[in-house]
Amino acid sequence: MSDRYMKFANSLLGRQVAPKLGLPQPPVLKRYRPGQPVIEGAVLFGQAPGGRLAASTLGVLGAIGAETWAAEDAALREAAANAGISAKIFSPDSAGDQKFQALVFDATGITDAEGLKALYEFFHPVGRKIRAGGRLIVLGTPPESLEGGARLAQRALEGFTRSAGKEFGGKGVTAQLVYVAEGAEDQIESTLRFFLSPKSAFVSGQVVRIGVGAGATAKPELDWSKPLAGKVALVTGASRGIGEAIAETLARDGAHVVGLDIEPLAEDLKRVTDRIGGSAITFDVTADDAPKELAAQLKKEHGGVDIVVHNAGITRDKRLANMKPEIWDQVIQVNLIAPERITAELIKKKVLHRGGRIIGVSSIAGIAGNNGQTNYATSKAGVIGFVDALRDEVAAGGHTINAVAPGFIETKMTAAIPFGIREAGRRLASLGQGGQPVDVAETIAWYASPGSGAVNGNVVRVCGQGLIGA
Ligand SMILES: NC(=O)c1ccc[n+]([C@@H]2O[C@H](COP(=O)([O-])OP(=O)(O)OC[C@H]3O[C@@H](n4cnc5c(N)ncnc54)[C@H](O)[C@@H]3O)[C@@H](O)[C@H]2O)c1
Repeated sequence: MSDRYMKFANSLLGRQVAPKLGLPQPPVLKRYRPGQPVIEGAVLFGQAPGGRLAASTLGVLGAIGAETWAAEDAALREAAANAGISAKIFSPDSAGDQKFQALVFDATGITDAEGLKALYEFFHPVGRKIRAGGRLIVLGTPPESLEGGARLAQRALEGFTRSAGKEFGGKGVTAQLVYVAEGAEDQIESTLRFFLSPKSAFVSGQVVRIGVGAGATAKPELDWSKPLAGKVALVTGASRGIGEAIAETLARDGAHVVGLDIEPLAEDLKRVTDRIGGSAITFDVTADDAPKELAAQLKKEHGGVDIVVHNAGITRDKRLANMKPEIWDQVIQVNLIAPERITAELIKKKVLHRGGRIIGVSSIAGIAGNNGQTNYATSKAGVIGFVDALRDEVAAGGHTINAVAPGFIETKMTAAIPFGIREAGRRLASLGQGGQPVDVAETIAWYASPGSGAVNGNVVRVCGQGLIGA
């Protein structure tokens, strides 16, 4: 589905006319192209005194070959030297015209409300130095692991980050808060790579937790251009829309994708899986014997599975008073009960290999509710509950479980929404537009990475920081 207004606003004429009429000017977001570096442009790193993430963050910036800048500070210089990188020296007075593609701030050292001023002191002088399409990342400690002033201060980081996302979103800049548990300092690479890169173009205003559960394995040696090489990924609902993009993206990252869809869409499904060198299975995920049959087929044909993406989903919208019971049942069955049953069977039969990744597809409707969608929103909030309920259990088995909650994504599903609501869905986001299926797929690929073993129990919205559902 094309966004005609966005094309107009970014045309020569539109760029002149739109501001004069006070119309929105949604930025053109850059998406990832294979072979591209993680980040193109300089990164400024800063730290509140007493922070514990300088060494690991600078290590990642070194690994991705980023042009890194940092203040003239003995602790930072030492951390950079230990990370094997020579960071350029930054001071607001001497920086001249230097612009930054990313601003990364380690706020883990902030232990009380007064210390929050460190955010202001780092970001204020460079507020005009962030490039269009840039990245802003704040690193903190999960507040629930702290007490007193430190807990308060770390919780406060959310307000700062979400506001920054709203303030800079008009330039296509995204802002995220990444809480890193104590002891998980060496687990941040896959997450930093994702949020620094164009892969996260439509993800903004999110709070992510990196933990130390049993899912967090020793840092694997990864070929970051093909992190999923040798992995088998099951993607349900893979014949079109978001599922098709997920299948393509996981295949791009090296996985053998087993696409699943219902029998009437077998031809479409085969077209997708043939194109990406995957395999196709036709099943109705709600069938009584689906979990058993699927587990048996995955075992027999592929020796098991490493990544399971529960993408198949349906809407059957009706106001509650008009809703027939079968419509309630269908939505709950496909969106919630099928993922639950299939996951349980794959774990029980040990078809899911150790280090497995279970990924749910929720929706902002499951966070905020939606008129005429009591059934759908119940099922999608249930997907969040599914992540919460299983996070500790799966971590004990070395797996992770996470979900994405897409906002307005340009697909056949959203093309059917009436014009006025569709326009509101697009423009009422910090990034001023709908997302592409690939934006959901890239977020799933980050969860799926072997480098994301400590990313467990998260629900990340892929919504351009949409106001709807906020
Ligand atoms: N498009 C959006 O803006 C948006 C927003 C939030 C969440 N989502 C969620 O993302 C997922 C994909 O959405 P989409 O827009 O690509 O939808 P879509 O309708 O284009 O694709 C859904 C796929 O799931 C398959 N499917 C449905 N029931 C099935 C069953 N019983 N067994 C096997 N396969 C089945 C369908 O055949 C279809 O191929 C869904 O879970 C949806 O709820 C979408």
